[in-house]
Amino acid sequence: MAMTSSSSEEGTTKEKKKQGLGWIEWLRGWFYVVYEMLFQRIMASHLQNPMPLPPINDLTCIVTGSTSGIGLEIARQLAQSGAHVIMAVRNLERAHELIQKWQNEWSGMGLPLNIEAMELNLLSLDSVVRFAEAYNARSGPLHVLINNAGIFSIGEPQRFSKDGYEEHLQVNHLAPALLSTLLLPSLLRGSPSRIVNVNSILHQIGFVDTEDMNVTSGKRKYSSLVGYSSSKLAQIMFNSVLHKRLPVESGISVLCVSPGVVQTNVARDLPKIVQTAYHLIPYFIFDVQEGSRSTLFAATDPQVPEYCEMLKTDDWPVGPFLSQDCRPANPSEESHHIQTQYEVWEKTLEMIGLPSDAVERLLEGEEVKCRYGVRQE
Ligand SMILES: NC(=O)c1ccc[n+]([C@@H]2O[C@H](COP(=O)([O-])OP(=O)(O)OC[C@H]3O[C@@H](n4cnc5c(N)ncnc54)[C@H](OP(=O)(O)O)[C@@H]3O)[C@@H](O)[C@H]2O)c1
Repeated sequence: MAMTSSSSEEGTTKEKKKQGLGWIEWLRGWFYVVYEMLFQRIMASHLQNPMPLPPINDLTCIVTGSTSGIGLEIARQLAQSGAHVIMAVRNLERAHELIQKWQNEWSGMGLPLNIEAMELNLLSLDSVVRFAEAYNARSGPLHVLINNAGIFSIGEPQRFSKDGYEEHLQVNHLAPALLSTLLLPSLLRGSPSRIVNVNSILHQIGFVDTEDMNVTSGKRKYSSLVGYSSSKLAQIMFNSVLHKRLPVESGISVLCVSPGVVQTNVARDLPKIVQTAYHLIPYFIFDVQEGSRSTLFAATDPQVPEYCEMLKTDDWPVGPFLSQDCRPANPSEESHHIQTQYEVWEKTLEMIGLPSDAVERLLEGEEVKCRYGVRQE
């Protein structure tokens, strides 16, 4: 794999393993977080709300976590603009209620919406494999996979999935990584196609220790902020390698986006007083329609694949990232470490039970066994 000489030197000459962000990096990270919160509305003032979408009648899109917040809005807008939408959700009943409501609201305005729901629980890697197998078995194309579902369990104690992984890491990074990889055959059938990962500005204060992905060694004190920000940084690093590994000819673009600071259920676990303050500063905080724009842009704008290809051919060290104002942005300096990106890549594949050459084999049309799911041996 090609990489810039300066970047590879940077990677290979890293002598002492870094244990965390330095205080200057940490302060800079917080500066970006506060800046986004205070100025996102000004930065995004050139965008219309709702954002007009190009013709998407031919697109099939999977949206994870579409029963609430940003994902719900994305699924609704994609379906109302003509796409075939698959809501990948853990609460099927809620998804069917939403579909019924949207169909009723839409009746008389054109053909019925082309929208359906399939079960996916990201806290179970078995569930991810079952979902991918069921979708791939349709032998149809997939044009857009939106990894939107996420958790931020503010103030909650550290919790682990039944697979043994810290919950933020599993829901925000590991499970979407498994889903993206296993759906490559369908994305290849839908090529040109895209994987859009809903990330966060909070990755700027994240740090990934590949020897302590679960934050259990005691080297770092766990907090939900550590779990969340590290999972979002791990997602950028993993997808940077995926972006490099997917040849241009595959026609599959991979990118991460920041939705901005958005008023959703993501704050449901905050103390009541903080939730009240959150509701009192609506000027700064996006509503879900505003917060869905960068993801919808990444999923549908015709210039996005060109931008992704340009970064690939320029050997830019990190994968494509779009800011909440739909402009290309530079993710944190930490995400640029090529050696750590590859460590995150290998560690992630090991944790999700896939061989290190899974991507290449899936692109060749070979079957790849995953340690999880119904087809395990
Ligand atoms: N809101 C913000 O300010 C903000 C800022 C930056 C990034 N983000 C990111 O934006 C994305 C969407 O978040 P949101 O703000 O819209 O939050 P939200 O309203 O809490 O929605 C999260 C969605 O994820 C789903 N989900 C959670 N755990 C799941 C699991 N184990 N399996 C399947 N689905 C699961 C939820 O399903 P249920 O309805 O079943 O709970 C829900 O539909 C997340 O990735 C988040 O990190 C949000």
